[in-house]
Amino acid sequence: MNFFKATLLSFLSLVIFFNTFSQSSKSTSNDKAAGKILTGQLAPTPPMGFNTWNTFQTKINENMLKDMVDVFVSSGMRESGYQYFVLDDGWMAMERDQNGSLIADPVKFPHGMKAFADYVHSKGLKFGIYNCAGSKTCAGYPGTRGHEYEDARLYASWGVDFLKYDWCNTDSLNTPEAYKTMSAALKATGRPIVFSICEWGGHSPWLWAGGIGELYRTTGDIGLSFFANKNYGNWEAQSVISILDKQIPIRKYNGPNHWNDPDMLEVGNGMTYNEDKAHFSLWCMLAAPLAAGNDLRKMSTQTRDILTNKEMIAIDQDARGISAFKMVMPDSLEMWVKPLKNNELAICFLNRTGSSKKIDMDWKDFNLSDAQSGLEIHFDNQYFSLRDLWLKKDAGKTDKKLVREIASHEVIVFKLSPVVK
Ligand code: GLA
Repeated sequence: MNFFKATLLSFLSLVIFFNTFSQSSKSTSNDKAAGKILTGQLAPTPPMGFNTWNTFQTKINENMLKDMVDVFVSSGMRESGYQYFVLDDGWMAMERDQNGSLIADPVKFPHGMKAFADYVHSKGLKFGIYNCAGSKTCAGYPGTRGHEYEDARLYASWGVDFLKYDWCNTDSLNTPEAYKTMSAALKATGRPIVFSICEWGGHSPWLWAGGIGELYRTTGDIGLSFFANKNYGNWEAQSVISILDKQIPIRKYNGPNHWNDPDMLEVGNGMTYNEDKAHFSLWCMLAAPLAAGNDLRKMSTQTRDILTNKEMIAIDQDARGISAFKMVMPDSLEMWVKPLKNNELAICFLNRTGSSKKIDMDWKDFNLSDAQSGLEIHFDNQYFSLRDLWLKKDAGKTDKKLVREIASHEVIVFKLSPVVK
């Protein structure tokens, strides 16, 4: 089979467009000397954590969440790099108090939010919370509009380290301005708080969010489906594949401290093992934030092994922060390529079709070229060793043909390291 030489097409990667962001990560030595919080530097690699929404929606409470925090540690997730324990919508009482302050729902959190934040911190984790730029959150709880500075001060007093900020009930608000206001309010607290912008990609946040927040959602909400979107009447849940495809044209905007966020993980929530493995791998290939969204207390060994695959996580967390580009292959197979530091790279073969396929390829028949990262590989005169990141074993070199079965909705992921001849 020699299809590759002529047919591999890179869809992306002609121009580097980092100008928009280059200012955001700069700081002066004066700032450092003054001990100021250096904005735009809170997420040099994609943030990793857990978020309550995908499994629990607003049905959360202190006791079950404390159990979840405990499993976050005992399951090895903390040790694998997950850091943020984030409460999504539904944590607060339905009304602000007489002073206009948000309060934690007293039934769900009888000891208050500061006590819960302290518990999260006592386990060596960081604490995240949710609100919304509008008058109400998406689930109808009090929103932040008009209360930005006081809410930010409250969060800082509780020890919040991460704020997810949604976009429901915003009427005529100007999107970048609303997020700028909250970003300034967070910065004014003096506490480093990662700002997670969640306006679903409708206002192209990749063009303006660098320096305002560290991550920004790029699509509508993910649903529990690998291939097809699910229509719920007034909204459409995005499948893994549909979200993946939407990342292609915005790849160039992704990078340290300004991450394209393709939404939280559905791993462990009901897709097949191969689909979960593919979903996780593809998010790592995208250099995406990794927010587990499953019930940690009930996760199977398989789910835990996916979420804590350290070699796969290392691809996500690679210091260069470059998102993968896609190459099309014969027979509807795809190859996603992520340039890494030290001239290494990750290659993820994806079979998004409904039937099993065979990969049968001679590496030396093709080249890889990516203007954005400067990647230029000619496999006929450069050798790489192959490490299979799911079998967790070495898999020979690129001097031999690669022949493998790849099941429907499966991925095979290799890390390639240069070998001196
Ligand atoms: C929106 C967000 C979700 C979640 C819910 C909470 O739909 O996109 O991720 O935060 O609101 O109501």
